[in-house]
Amino acid sequence: MATFRCLPDSKSFIRFVIAFNVLLTLFNFLSFRITPRSHYPCVLVEDNNKSYSLEGSRKQKVAWVLPAHPRPQVSTETQNVEVTIGNWTVEVHGNFMLIKNYIRAELTPGFNESVTFTTQGTHPFLHHAEVICQRWDGPLSVAVYAPGTDLLDAIKKISFLQQCGNSCVSRNVSWHLVYDLNFGPSIEELNNPENIARFFSINCTAGMKALNLSSNFREAYRLSYPINLLRNVARLQAETYYVLSSDIELYPSVNIVSRFLHLVAEETGVTAVPSAPRVYHLPIFEVSANLPAPATKRELVSLLKQKKATFFHKLTCDKCQRYPRRNEWVKILPNNSALGVFTVTKRNKYLSSWEPIYIGTNNEPLYNEHLTWEGKRDKMSQMYELCLLNYDIYTLDNAFLVHAPGIKRSNKKDQKWRMPYIRKNNRVYSRILKDLRDKYGYRKDC
Ligand SMILES: *[C@@H]1O[C@H](CO)[C@@H](O)[C@H](O)[C@H]1NC(C)=O
Ligand SMILES: *[C@@H]1O[C@H](CO)[C@@H](O)[C@H](O)[C@H]1NC(C)=O
Ligand SMILES: *[C@@H]1O[C@H](CO)[C@@H](O)[C@H](O)[C@H]1NC(C)=O
Ligand SMILES: *[C@@H]1O[C@H](CO)[C@@H](O)[C@H](O)[C@H]1NC(C)=O
Ligand SMILES: *[C@@H]1O[C@H](CO)[C@@H](O)[C@H](O)[C@H]1NC(C)=O
Ligand SMILES: *[C@@H]1O[C@H](CO)[C@@H](O)[C@H](O)[C@H]1NC(C)=O
Ligand SMILES: *[C@@H]1O[C@H](CO)[C@@H](O)[C@H](O)[C@H]1NC(C)=O
Repeated sequence: MATFRCLPDSKSFIRFVIAFNVLLTLFNFLSFRITPRSHYPCVLVEDNNKSYSLEGSRKQKVAWVLPAHPRPQVSTETQNVEVTIGNWTVEVHGNFMLIKNYIRAELTPGFNESVTFTTQGTHPFLHHAEVICQRWDGPLSVAVYAPGTDLLDAIKKISFLQQCGNSCVSRNVSWHLVYDLNFGPSIEELNNPENIARFFSINCTAGMKALNLSSNFREAYRLSYPINLLRNVARLQAETYYVLSSDIELYPSVNIVSRFLHLVAEETGVTAVPSAPRVYHLPIFEVSANLPAPATKRELVSLLKQKKATFFHKLTCDKCQRYPRRNEWVKILPNNSALGVFTVTKRNKYLSSWEPIYIGTNNEPLYNEHLTWEGKRDKMSQMYELCLLNYDIYTLDNAFLVHAPGIKRSNKKDQKWRMPYIRKNNRVYSRILKDLRDKYGYRKDC
């Protein structure tokens, strides 16, 4: 007899999940339909004490219910928020569990009516999503890596941002959760009444510090950060045609979406059949720590003139961000409401270290999930692939990204602990490049 078992022991859940994993290799893709049940995590198990098998087909109803956090209608100091239970789509992906749209943005613009800013992070970085949200005139899709006890802290921080942050968080941000199957949430912890009370009664006036977020499970277990998996999850969950796959500490200049849509609408009129696939690149800058991040190119140019801003990674990896004709780019000052194309380039062999961030679509190749963040160069194989596919890179003239204030300098210690990961990424990188050449054919200019 199949029953919903609330508060299952985590071992049986993992066994249950491993059974799914085996099927995954057969079906390649598997998604669970979620049935809301209670405020407690529950899984459906075959209660025959032998197998935790599927009920028939690849699709299985599973209730995996974590509390949802609607934005309270009342005051900022909120107790006992009314809870609605949301719907979750859960996917087992390799060794990872993905909970997609753990919280979905309230606003969902039409597929061709906006551009989604897609990004990823761990709980100590999630507050940047609120800053991005206030600058981005469209939806955000954020994938959060939260193994073990990090999951609780991630949920607390998301709840705080939803309930106490700028209202654009609940309106425009969709959150997805990712953790290792081996490090699923501890059921005891999830069901600890004190923890549950904390989700529901966030005291906004007490501030983020009062959440006591201290879990560092990822570091303690030395789990490398699966940055490209997270990038792909966030990008694939976007519900618009155009997407910007960025990093969570990179703040966009303001009003990009509306101007960008205007630009591509005009382009479509001119070039009916584009000769090569294209993406739209946004230059990146960094500013001194004590300054607000510039919101417009006018502000940026003024900071550059005062030497209070510089090109991103200028002091750590200049060639990773050195884009064509950049000294001319910083001299051009279009009017704030205009957006055009500054220059068109190929990512050729002279730009082989370039890791631009761009607006594209979900038709572009995904990021390679075998590369880790620790090992660096995690976006380069994707750029190589764009080269093999003969992409044009359009640099926008009046849109940019700026790193959360603070200029990064190179750090020997950082370089040292990363060394084993860098070696591993380099090995993986050569193999990926070879596979790509086998797939698309060799191009000598890449
Ligand atoms: C399996 O059976 C044993 C003994 O009959 C029982 O104690 C245990 O709770 C059962 N386990 C499950 C998962 O139902
Ligand atoms: C859950 O999904 C069903 C069917 O798609 C929908 O009718 C319902 O409103 C959803 N519930 C919530 C809380 O989102
Ligand atoms: C959105 O725009 C793309 C590219 O112009 C087009 O191929 C697609 O059909 C459009 N989709 C919808 C739903 O309008
Ligand atoms: C949120 O999204 C809507 C619709 O996509 C957009 O108009 C708005 O500018 C976005 N940002 C904020 C801060 O509300
Ligand atoms: C919320 O936090 C504020 C500031 O720390 C405190 O004064 C207030 O009593 C708290 N409210 C509740 C209901 O705990
Ligand atoms: C955070 O820690 C302080 C001091 O240890 C404690 O008084 C407070 O209740 C904790 N808050 C939460 C939300 O756990
Ligand atoms: C700025 O550009 C917009 C749109 O291209 C145009 O309508 C406006 O007149 C321009 N303003 C100035 C001061 O040039």
